[in-house]
Amino acid sequence: MSSDPKVKTIAVLGGTGREGSGLVLRWAQGGYRVLIGSRDAARAVAKAGELNAVIGEDVIRGLDNVDAAREADMVVLAVPYAAHEDILRSVADVVQGKILVDVTVPIQPPAIRTVYVPEGNAASLEAQALLGDGVRVVAAFHNVSASHLPDLAQGVNCDVLVCSDDADAKNEVFQLVEAIAGTRAVDAGPLANAVAVEALTPVLMYISKRYKVAGAGIRITGLE
Ligand SMILES: NC(=O)c1ccc[n+]([C@@H]2O[C@H](COP(=O)([O-])OP(=O)(O)OC[C@H]3O[C@@H](n4cnc5c(N)ncnc54)[C@H](OP(=O)(O)O)[C@@H]3O)[C@@H](O)[C@H]2O)c1
Repeated sequence: MSSDPKVKTIAVLGGTGREGSGLVLRWAQGGYRVLIGSRDAARAVAKAGELNAVIGEDVIRGLDNVDAAREADMVVLAVPYAAHEDILRSVADVVQGKILVDVTVPIQPPAIRTVYVPEGNAASLEAQALLGDGVRVVAAFHNVSASHLPDLAQGVNCDVLVCSDDADAKNEVFQLVEAIAGTRAVDAGPLANAVAVEALTPVLMYISKRYKVAGAGIRITGLE
């Protein structure tokens, strides 16, 4: 973990799922206190126990989504797009004044490898519109496949494109990216650019299937 991170406690709503639990593990390994949020607190508690056993420390706790979001300094949302609006509505009050990192990819099953642009153009733009100006929404981690997260002995070979209309919020999320070994944060511009970042994920899923690889990712060239 960086020496003095502004963010001490991160809640991951949907932290029982594939992407969310992998991020929880990586951030716990990076020294953060992490709260798993779930629709069912008991499921979150069970997952927290499982992941604490992997880390070998008691740094992860399980709560229901609203309590997790209320207790955290920063809230990460990693739920299926179909549940995105409902979960945002349920935590809208308790996330005011905070940063919300949206990892949700707008996918319309069964066409999971075809780009789907939702009515609000991007899930994260819809989140910002729903939550209002009191919440700084940051779009990030969409292109990091869950398949690379659980094996803590391996770095994650992927750039993380970060979009937000708030420069300070973007910098705080850069710290979360840097806490995951192997990843690199890339400032990808305003939240409007999340349309392209979110849309990349079904393209990467297509590529993974086509070339029979687990979790294709991205690297931006020319930055070295
Ligand atoms: N998997 C990846 O490689 C990957 C990569 C980048 C981005 N993403 C995005 O991250 C989000 C989560 O993906 P995932 O693969 O982690 O999904 P997942 O394994 O299905 O987990 C999603 C979690 O969301 C919660 N949830 C809340 N409402 C739900 C509902 N109506 N139906 C199902 N689950 C619900 C569930 O937790 P509770 O039941 O405990 O509430 C569940 O554990 C998606 O938007 C996905 O596109 C995924």
